[in-house]
Parts: sequence; structure tokens; C-alpha cells
Amino acid sequence: MTKLKYLLITFIIVPLAFGHGGIDHSKESKIVEKKEIRKSVLLEINSEYLSTVKSIFKKSCFDCHSAQVNYPWYYELPVVKKIINSDIIEAKKHLDFTQDFPFLSHESPINDLKSIKNSVISGGMPPLRYRIMHIGKKLKSSEVDSIIRWVDSSMRKLENESK
Ligand code: HEC
Repeated sequence: MTKLKYLLITFIIVPLAFGHGGIDHSKESKIVEKKEIRKSVLLEINSEYLSTVKSIFKKSCFDCHSAQVNYPWYYELPVVKKIINSDIIEAKKHLDFTQDFPFLSHESPINDLKSIKNSVISGGMPPLRYRIMHIGKKLKSSEVDSIIRWVDSSMRKLENESK
């Protein structure tokens, strides 16, 4: 390992990784809400997800938000391994993309979509510590556009369901 990579890990990755504060996970599960939405609508949203968004998520999000993790070369470093493991646990508690749409989460599908939109617009996901180590996983503006387009059209479909 080069000295530069070592410095990056100790002084940037480690502090950033510990930077996200405690989040309350005591929210009641709202999965029940999913039952009020017609299955056909969820399937339609999922089919659009599969054709336009999944490949983007696979590249930029699955390493933390899914069961399909590609561990990086520096995973074997003692402290780093802990950080990455806790990142994955934390990320999956919020949102797990493993089973396609509707995603595994404590929130309703509509709230998941809102928070995905917010996270990609703010540039908060994937997190900075990850982007530093994985150049190329940052979302391109065309990818952000595709995600937003899918979120907006899906939200319209879901909102029509609750009318
Ligand atoms: C390096 C690991 C990592 C990657 C890669 C990653 N995330 Fe996350 N994500 C997290 C962690 C950790 C949390 C929970 C803590 C937080 O919000 O920072 C989280 C939380 C979230 C949340 C919930 C925020 C909330 O307010 O509840 C959304 C939405 C999200 N991520 C979307 C994405 C999307 C979309 C991608 C890909 C474009 C992505 N993430 C890539 C680690 C990651």
C-alpha cells in the first residue's frame, strides 16, 4: 500500500466514517401501508426501476445498501473492516435494495422514494468517504436525472393509489 493511501484512510476515511451521528431506529414499521397499494402498480414501478435505475444503484449504492457487496482491497485492514461493516449495517437498516422495489425498509414506499430523491439531489449519497476511495461511483448528472425521473413518475402512481 502506498503511503498516500494509508494517509487517506487514517485521516480522511476514519474520521468521516465516524462522522454520522446516532439515528433513531425505534420507528414503528409502516410496511402495512404497502398492502393498500395495488400489486400491479408496484410491479409497474418495479419494472421501470429494473430497466432504468437498478444498474445505477448496483454501481453506486449496492456496496452498502444490499446483500451484494463488493468488498474493496483495503477491507482487510483492521480498523477499516469495522467501519465498512458498520456502514453496511447502518445503511441496510434504512434501506435495503436487495429485493428490488418496494425496497426493504421501515418506511412506506413513498417515503423511501422521497428520501432517495433527497439523497441524490443533495449529493449525500453515496457518502463522501466512499466516493473518495471509489472514483467513478459518484453519480453522474445524467444518472441523477434518471433516478429523479423514476422517483417522480413512481410517486405520481403511488399518490393516485391513495386518492
Ligand atoms: C459507503 C456506504 C454507502 C453507499 C455506497 C451508499 N449509502 Fe446510502 N446510506 C449509508 C449509510 C451509512 C446510511 C445511514 C446513515 C446516514 O443517513 O448517513 C445511508 C442512508 C441512506 C438513505 C436514508 C437517509 C435517511 O434520511 O433515512 C438513503 C435514501 C440512501 N442512503 C440512499 C443511497 C443511494 C441512492 C445510494 C447510491 C446512489 C447510496 N445510498 C449509497 C451508506 C451508504
